[in-house]
This record gives sequence, structure tokens and C-alpha cells, in this order.
Amino acid sequence: MKKIYITRKLPEEIIEPLRKKFDVQMWHSETIGMTNEEIITNAKDAYALWTMLSDNIDRTLIEGLPNLKVISNFAVGYNNIDIEAAKDRSIVVTNTPGVLTETTADLAFALLLATARRITEVEQEIRSGNWDSWSPMQYTGMDIFGATLGIVGMGRIGEAVARRAKGFDMNVLYHNRSRKLDAEETYGFTYAELDELLKQSDFVILLTPLTPETKGLIGERELNMMKETAAIINVARGGIVDEQALYEALASKKIWAAGLDVFEQEPVPVDHPLLTLPNVTVSPHIGSASIRTRQAMMQMNAKDIEAVLENREPQNRIL
Ligand code: DGY
Repeated sequence: MKKIYITRKLPEEIIEPLRKKFDVQMWHSETIGMTNEEIITNAKDAYALWTMLSDNIDRTLIEGLPNLKVISNFAVGYNNIDIEAAKDRSIVVTNTPGVLTETTADLAFALLLATARRITEVEQEIRSGNWDSWSPMQYTGMDIFGATLGIVGMGRIGEAVARRAKGFDMNVLYHNRSRKLDAEETYGFTYAELDELLKQSDFVILLTPLTPETKGLIGERELNMMKETAAIINVARGGIVDEQALYEALASKKIWAAGLDVFEQEPVPVDHPLLTLPNVTVSPHIGSASIRTRQAMMQMNAKDIEAVLENREPQNRIL
């Protein structure tokens, strides 16, 4: 039986159908990840490697698994996999697009609302016993309705966020490698160059994949272009933003607030400077984290692994 190795403990009911055909082995923990040395040791003779977005699937690891035919990533993003190294070995790489689009758009919008209305900050005020009177301008935030939303990266998730924004009467600008003429016509979204989008938006949502081109896309120069009353929301990948520049822009009130679901280092260290700021709302990389969506993503990975190991074409092939 061909071996499949899974780098995190997944629910048995998802794995069960694969067990009938393959030798399925997985890491013992749901919450603690594996080191690359542990992956190489445990998955040595594996034909399929089922990876998490927190795994760093680099060339050394890929070259350390001689039988490997497929890497299936439990995420739509795949910046954690050395695609060139996989290509050199003709290894198929799959991901989980589509099923997480609406769930991730929900989270983006939740973070947008929470940031605009300071939800986590004011909750902390109540829990700490600091809410001692109702006061006219205390705890005031920014309006979402009628505001301009700038979406950087207009893929499936970007479009789903933009549709939600229309329900809030927002004016939607977007920046993308290619124009989305159908969406522009159907929903009235407007294309803008990145600098123009940053200047005009009240809220900027980052939804672009992390690639060599987008690494550090938002730095000091870009943050300086934003309005002093604007907020930035990142639900894509931490590396798209220069976190030091973001900290300085927020601490010096060059921009008003940030909502962050992703960080350069995850889990974000508890003493990270960004976590000291009251105008930063955070969540722990939970874009796709609804029960139904996570289950659908796992089903997708399982089907694609099965397909490759049975010499069929997988549905979600990146490579
Ligand atoms: C992904 O799947 O790439 C997202 O980051 C999930 O939140």
C-alpha cells in the first residue's frame, strides 16, 4: 500500500475512506506542528504529503522524500511550498481553492467591522472594569456604510468581499494584476492603480497571494499615502506588509487602525510591538476557519491525493 503522510492530526472520519486503499499515517498532535526533520523522518517513504500552511516545505525537505508524487496543501495559499523544487521532481502540488472563498470573505468583513468600531478594544475596556459612564464621544469609530473600500488582489475572495461591501453601500476600488471587467460591469467596482487606491480608500483590504512580487508590497511609502483616518486589513499573508513600518504608522497615527489575521511570523509572538497598540485588532489566521469549510477543504485534499496516487488528474492542481 502506498503511504500518505499528514503533518497534523486530522479527524478520523475524513481519513477513513483513504485508509481502505492506502497506508495513512499522521502526526500525533492537532495543535503542535512538525519540524522539517520530523517530517523527513516520518514521511521518508511516503508517496503523498498532506501539508498545513504552517509547514515550510522547502527544497531540502522535498529532496529528502524520494518517493513523493503529490503534496496537497490544506490552504488556498501555497507560498509555504517551494514550487520550483516540486517542479524539478515532477511532484504534483494541489491546494483548496473555491470552498473557502465565502468563509474567508466573511472573516475579512468581520475584521473590517471590528476594526472600524473598535470591537476588541472596547470589549477589553468592559472586561477590565474601565467602562464607568456613557459618554458622547468615547469609543467612537469609523463608519463603514458609504466609505470607500480599496481591495488589493481581486481574486475570488476579493470579489466576495466586494459583493459584501456593496450591501453596506460602500464605494469599491480594486487593484489587481488584471482588470475584472465583468465584475466592474456587474457590481460597479472601479479599477485603480495601487497608489491611487491607497490615497482614496477609507479601508484597504489586502487579499493578494504572497509572491516575490508582493513581498513587502505595503511599506512606509505606501502607508504614508493612506488617509490619517484610514484602516488597513490583512487577511492574506503577513509578509505582504512591512510590520515595522506598519507599527510606526499606527503608533504615530499616520493611519488610524489595522485589522490583522496574518503575521510575518505565526503564531505572532506575544511581545510583538503591534500587539501593544490599542488600534490593532487581531485574529489568529482564521480566514477559512468555519467547521463546514475546514471539512470541505479536507475532503478536497483527500480526493486530490487519492486521484494522483491512482494516476488520475486531481481537481485542484497548482503544478
Ligand atoms: C488559506 O487557505 O490560504 C487562507 O490563508 C486560510 O485562512
